[in-house]
Amino acid sequence: MPNNDSERIRLDHVAIAVTNLDEALAFYQKQFNLPLIDIEVVQEQGVRVAKLDLGNTHIELLEPLSPETPVGKFIAQRGPGLHHICTSVNNICQELQNLKDAGTRLIDETPKIGAGGAQIAFVHPKATGGVLLELSQLANTEHK
Ligand code: CO
Repeated sequence: MPNNDSERIRLDHVAIAVTNLDEALAFYQKQFNLPLIDIEVVQEQGVRVAKLDLGNTHIELLEPLSPETPVGKFIAQRGPGLHHICTSVNNICQELQNLKDAGTRLIDETPKIGAGGAQIAFVHPKATGGVLLELSQLANTEHK
């Protein structure tokens, strides 16, 4: 949750597509001693997600549930690697409307439910300099 009301947007997490979650997790935990927050299966996104604490942000390791999922297809085409970055926003509907008004190419025109019950929507990499961008409004966050 934003700890400052003026923080309209901040880095929530960096997500890395991996083929083997346990191996990737062992690396980040052993080498950097990053605390594991949780491991969650998000059926809607077709991934198993390990969330690691990185101070004021997170690393998410994404393991596809099958090759037919979006992350499975991503790995098949480009190999493992940076999948998306996520910025948390206070009012995702308003941010999406602003982007739509500006003619920005979106993957999701309306929010869907992601890990931890957050409302999320993706902005197309063609609009962002080549990186898939996730907007996220945390669960139980009030609209302003
Ligand atoms: Co994400």
